[in-house]
This record gives sequence, structure tokens and C-alpha cells, in this order.
Amino acid sequence: MQCVRKINEDMYWIGAEDRRLALFENLFPIPRGIAYNSYLIKDEKNVLIDTVDYSVGRQFLDNLKYALNGQKLDYLIVNHMEPDHCSLIEELIYKYPEMKIICNAQTIRMIKQFYNFDVDSKVEIVKEGQIFKTGKHEFQFIMAPMVHWPEVMVTYDMTDKILFSADAFGSFGALNGNLFNDDIDFEKEWLSDARRYYTNIVGKYGPQVQNLLKKASNIEIKMICPLHGIIWRNNLEYIIEKYDKWSKYEPEKNSVLIVYSSVYGNTENVVNTLSNYLGENGIKEIAVYDSSNTDVSQLVSESFKYSNIVIAATTYNLGVFPAIENYLVDIKRLNLQNRTISIIENSTWVPGIVTKEVKNILSEMKNMEVLENTFSIKSSAKDNEYEYIKNIGDEIIKDLKKRD
Ligand code: FEO
Repeated sequence: MQCVRKINEDMYWIGAEDRRLALFENLFPIPRGIAYNSYLIKDEKNVLIDTVDYSVGRQFLDNLKYALNGQKLDYLIVNHMEPDHCSLIEELIYKYPEMKIICNAQTIRMIKQFYNFDVDSKVEIVKEGQIFKTGKHEFQFIMAPMVHWPEVMVTYDMTDKILFSADAFGSFGALNGNLFNDDIDFEKEWLSDARRYYTNIVGKYGPQVQNLLKKASNIEIKMICPLHGIIWRNNLEYIIEKYDKWSKYEPEKNSVLIVYSSVYGNTENVVNTLSNYLGENGIKEIAVYDSSNTDVSQLVSESFKYSNIVIAATTYNLGVFPAIENYLVDIKRLNLQNRTISIIENSTWVPGIVTKEVKNILSEMKNMEVLENTFSIKSSAKDNEYEYIKNIGDEIIKDLKKRD
């Protein structure tokens, strides 16, 4: 059965939701599911913007057939060749043999890598700024390499002033019938997953996102249609501002994130004492996560949000506790920068390993300032060691005051 939404006079949302998939990219938990958006613009020539993941292919093909209502599909614009958006290309070629694929030169290489059909006979190559007319509608192509793969471009409908933004401005989360940002409480219900999506999927490519934002600032945009998540039709500056901050690696919140590991609860006790000291001294919205039971994608997302991070880790096999090490490697690969870090370690027989290894990883990152005060817990903290925790807290508070 069709599940199609009319977006405006000519445009239809023909995407689909997947609430059965546990891990997006077989990596990121998506308890709220995921939406794969695809858009059909009907004109003298009908044009489809991207497809969906194969898992929701049947729904998508039903939607497309219904929205076309017996008309031809003339063009498929491929903005992004990751299989969560391109996996129905071959089916479309069989079902709509007259359809041409509009894409850039980089995309062709990837289509050939993923598919066996005669690609060259099917494609029309477009370049940066090129204009493509379907009748009433004129589309312009804007290259956006590495947002999130090298072939990515975005498509601007000059007629309706709509930006089809590929992965940019997307989010984890199924749509639940509310397609638009003004249908939902974005800040309360979606921001956290939009941040987790951005930081983990595109976070590494801040400068490339900045390039796209610069290009987008030169055009009038009334609506942003991403390939995942909700469609933005007002208050666009809100999400653009978030993207600007995230891609510049600027924190959204001047406060403290504590990421810890604790095998028998002793490091956790110190973390609780420190967070209470900070709270007692007026620091608001402190976040504390146990790395053993928090998915690393959430730790990454929170690390992009907060200005100050406390890493409290146990020594394990003469190294850093694996979940903390995994977290550190992840934020390093995602190019997180410009944060202030405090380190707490716990060891029972060889002190110094955690502090040294954490500092080593941080030294390979950009602008990660490590504060002086630290606490090397020997198995468990004693009352007379409270001073160490207080000193760490005071130094963080001082640093936060500098930022306000
Ligand atoms: Fe949603 Fe990079 O694909």
C-alpha cells in the first residue's frame, strides 16, 4: 500500500521508515528507527531525487508508482551513492527503462563499483552550478564532497527554493507521520539524535560542511529536504546555526561532561563526588556517563556538545580501560577539537599508565587543553584525598568562568 505525502503543488515525499533495524550502518543503535527520504517532483519531465535503502524498497516502489500515477519517470538525480540511498537504482532501471540518471563524474565511478548495468548509456553528467530544467522547475547542482562521501552533491530547486541536502541536516529517528520541523518539538525530541547523527556520520568533515554552508548562504532557501529525518520549512537558521557550530567544533554548552569507567565502583565514587562538587558550585547541566553501558556514539555526540570533558578511567591490562580507549580513538578519528580535558585515573599496582596514554591520544588532536590538576586513585579514594577532587573541580570552574 502507498504511503505518500504531498509536500507542495508538484512535490511528493515517497520515502519510508525502518523501525526494525537495530544498528544503522551496522554500527549505530537507532532505537527510534530511521527514515529514508526520497522526493518526486512532477513536471513536464518527472524527476526523482535519490532512492532509499533496500530494506524499505517495496514500500518505496509502491510509493513511486502511486505518485507517478501512470506517468513516466524521466530522471533520477543521485546526490549520494551510499547504499542507504542508492540501493534501488537497478530496480528503477528495469521498471522505468527510459529513466536517465543525473549525477556528477565522481558518482559514475561509484555506480559502476556498486552495479553491473551499462552505466554510461544511462547517465548524464552535471557539474558545479549547472542548471537542469524539467519544465517549470529549474535545478542547480552544488558539489558537497565529503558531506559525507566524496561524490556527494546537493540539488537546489531554484523554482521552489528547496534544497535537497543529501545527508546534511539529517537525523536518526523514524518520522511517525510528522514530516516537518514545525510538527514536532525538535529541541526536546530530535536534537539529541540529530547531533548524534551529525557528529558520528559527518563529524570528521567539519571543513567540508563549512564549505557547503558557505555555498548555501548565497542562495535563498525556503525548505531543506534531507535524506534522513525531518524536513525543515521554517526557522531554518536554527539548524544551520547548529551545523555551523558542530562543523567548527565549537561547544554548544559551557558545562561538564564526565565519561568514566569503573570496574568495582571506586572510580564511580570519585566521579559522583566531583559532579556533586561541581553542581554545588553552580555548574548546571552536568552530564555523567558510564562508558561500559553507554554506546560510544552517544559519548561522541555529548563530547561535541560540551566544552569541558573529564575522563576518569581505570587501568586495564596495563593500558586504558577498553571502553574509554575506544571512545578516545573515536573522538580523535572524528576530529573533535577545542575542548578542555581533566584526567582522573585509577590503578591498583601501576600508577601513571592511564594519564600517559590518555595524554598521548589527546596530543594527536587539535586544541585539546589538558588541565593541570589530576587524581591518581590507588584502588579507592580516601577521605584525606578529597582535596584532589576539589582541586580538579575548582580548576574546571575557573576554566568555565573564562568562557562565559
Ligand atoms: Fe545516509 Fe551517507 O548516507
